[in-house]
Amino acid sequence: MKTKGIIQRLLLLSLVLSIISLEAETKSKMQKQVFGKTEDGQSVDLYTLKNKNGVEARITNYGATLVSLRVPDREGKIDDVLLGYDTLEGYVQDKAYFGATVGRYSNRIAHGKFVLDGATYTLALNNGPNTLHGGLKGFNKHVWQTEDVSSNAGQSLALTYESKDGEEGYPGTLSVKVAYTLTDNNDLRIEYAATTDKDTVINLTNHSYFNLAGQGNGDILNHQLLLRANRFTPVDESLIPTGELRPVSNTPFDFTKMTVIGARIDQDDQQLKFGKGYDHNWVLDHEKNGELEMAAQAYSPSSGRMLEVWTTEPGVQFYTGNFLDGTVRGKGGKAYERRSAFCLETQHFPDSPNHPSFPSTILRKGQHFKSTTIYRLSVRKP
Ligand code: GLA
Repeated sequence: MKTKGIIQRLLLLSLVLSIISLEAETKSKMQKQVFGKTEDGQSVDLYTLKNKNGVEARITNYGATLVSLRVPDREGKIDDVLLGYDTLEGYVQDKAYFGATVGRYSNRIAHGKFVLDGATYTLALNNGPNTLHGGLKGFNKHVWQTEDVSSNAGQSLALTYESKDGEEGYPGTLSVKVAYTLTDNNDLRIEYAATTDKDTVINLTNHSYFNLAGQGNGDILNHQLLLRANRFTPVDESLIPTGELRPVSNTPFDFTKMTVIGARIDQDDQQLKFGKGYDHNWVLDHEKNGELEMAAQAYSPSSGRMLEVWTTEPGVQFYTGNFLDGTVRGKGGKAYERRSAFCLETQHFPDSPNHPSFPSTILRKGQHFKSTTIYRLSVRKP
């Protein structure tokens, strides 16, 4: 009798243990498939992160790029809300930074010059008179190393890249890590970390283009947006901040309440003319420096999908895809027209190395750079 009881208990225990380990296995088993090879023969993969709600995020180690994000609408219909390409070749040719990890310095540096510790650094000019998004070959055009770092928090992919001293003109060898985690709350969490062996500047962002009605599904002018920001950084005609932090009240830049994106985009306003629409940095109303706080909410009334952006960064570049012109063919052969997506690029302010009054983008030798941004997806009833 006694032995029978023990055996029964052991059987039960082993059943429970195998269920637990099966669950752990499904959690950590990340799908990986071949995406292609670069011209110089490096192999590139495509990784799929999944959660229990059927949400899927795809990432490639080419540029640590977020390739797709498939999420349900209010009826439960799943669609991809990110612009991008079906092939590696698309990302190799890309000039719009679809889904890319941008660095070493995202956004612009005026005249491709800055002074650090008394030395002047000169960068390539790839955007009129300025440097944009890391230069001629930014972090988005390199193949990164990967590691599956899934945990109870969700499936997670870490990508690392070592940017050599002098690469694109920047000082110091920079070791960068970007980790994407998909949680069961439908959060896509992006965590950045970096160290350098010489003082340098750093500003990392993710350049995803969202259309919450589904990629290739018209423009985003009917989406609504809220930005937790009472000020923005006005720019000159080459989109370099003037240094002013201007209140948004009584301007088309006021998104402190949910507002339709297209409502004021073509108003007669000098700043909107410079940006050909919205292409500006907002100064987030963070209560504490460097804490993770909500920065933005975007909502598509047609699909019911809602995106919340949370970040530790002090700024966000809201860009309405003004430079897209339908010539780029994306996923499923879709032509991406002007304003067919928006970006919310969490970041330090553009051209900070030349604006001592802006929050500093200097990373000193021995310091640990850290930054987190979350894309949180949900749905709302009409
Ligand atoms: C950022 C810039 C824009 C544009 C896009 C990429 O949003 O601010 O001006 O360069 O990236 O096309």
